Amino acid sequence: MSQVSSGMMPRQAALAIGDLLDRCGQIQAGQHVLIVAALDGLHGGENLVDEQAVSWVQAGVQQRGAYANVLWLDMPIRPARIWSPSGKIDGWKLPPILKAALASADVFINFCVDLSFEEELKEVPELLAEHNVPMVRNMATTASLLSSVWAQTPYELVSEIRLRAAANLQPGAHWTITHQNGSRLDGTLGPATSGGGYGEARTGYRPFPEGVLPRLPIRDVEGEVVFSSTNPIWARHIGIPTEFSAPVHVTMRDGFIKDFQGGSEAAELRDFYATLAKQFGEETYRVRLMHGGVHPHAHVRRDQCPSDAYRTFIEHHNWNSMHVHLGDARRNPQFPYNPHVTAELHGATVQIGDTYLWKEGRLVSADDPAVRAIADRYPDRPGLDVDNW
Ligand SMILES: [Fe+2]
Repeated sequence: MSQVSSGMMPRQAALAIGDLLDRCGQIQAGQHVLIVAALDGLHGGENLVDEQAVSWVQAGVQQRGAYANVLWLDMPIRPARIWSPSGKIDGWKLPPILKAALASADVFINFCVDLSFEEELKEVPELLAEHNVPMVRNMATTASLLSSVWAQTPYELVSEIRLRAAANLQPGAHWTITHQNGSRLDGTLGPATSGGGYGEARTGYRPFPEGVLPRLPIRDVEGEVVFSSTNPIWARHIGIPTEFSAPVHVTMRDGFIKDFQGGSEAAELRDFYATLAKQFGEETYRVRLMHGGVHPHAHVRRDQCPSDAYRTFIEHHNWNSMHVHLGDARRNPQFPYNPHVTAELHGATVQIGDTYLWKEGRLVSADDPAVRAIADRYPDRPGLDVDNW
């Protein structure tokens, strides 16, 4: 990654930060904004960050008349792998100083993977709900990532693709996922988790760049999914590579995982789920939801981000990528995590009722006239044209 040696900002990053703070964060004058990064991420840790990116965002918050407080967390040291076949599950606790700071913040801008809303500790969403603080999860955590095509793509455009994709879905609809690798799953769509349907605008949890379809609850899942990669955070927690040495075949019946077949990763996954199930019950095996990426440009070059895991994490938001969530142990109060083990598919066809969400990896909502109208308003920024950026 290029080392940024001065505070000078390229136009690309200025555009991204404008979207981050105005469209996504909706920062208002007078607000007390808490910007949180972690020190390990400066030196090879998981919470990838650079000081330049934090300083640019801090200046942007101040320019909007808000107070820009920066907290650099010294994160607890702990093993990457959270379990052992003997049955031991390692948890960890949020730094108390974060809790204290959030108690008096109006908005939280989070630069830390470890403080993920959906993929790490359940304490994070619980704490945000307790203090009623919206969390802007800035995933473009370095100067290079803030300057990328991924971050410059208009926030409003990706939001519209997201909302249009979920707009006409009905609870109880029959759905199928098929892929030329042999995957075939079907089931019914569960009720939306909030009263306003599947396609609600972001309020409390606001990821930047915008990137995934609302989570679609699924019921009565039957069939088999074949996949060769999974979410990097949970690959690390389980102790398997993000990209597998051999495809994993998961069979599902009546909404639950029945078996894992494949190579060494399938064996590790089978043991991991069995260990969890012993402590946290059969919900460990429930297949609870599906969704996928909605971003036209969710990929970055190695010179923009040297971390293989983080690049894979970004690509999980690309509009040709969808995934099924495996397992629901989070409901058990004794389990400290939000598990986010995913069966990742690129190029799938997903049909819900009479509607296609993806056709062979093409996200259908990208062709909606409302989406095209927004893209037309940003002729100088990356949009629906993926070949020329
Ligand atoms: Fe997901």
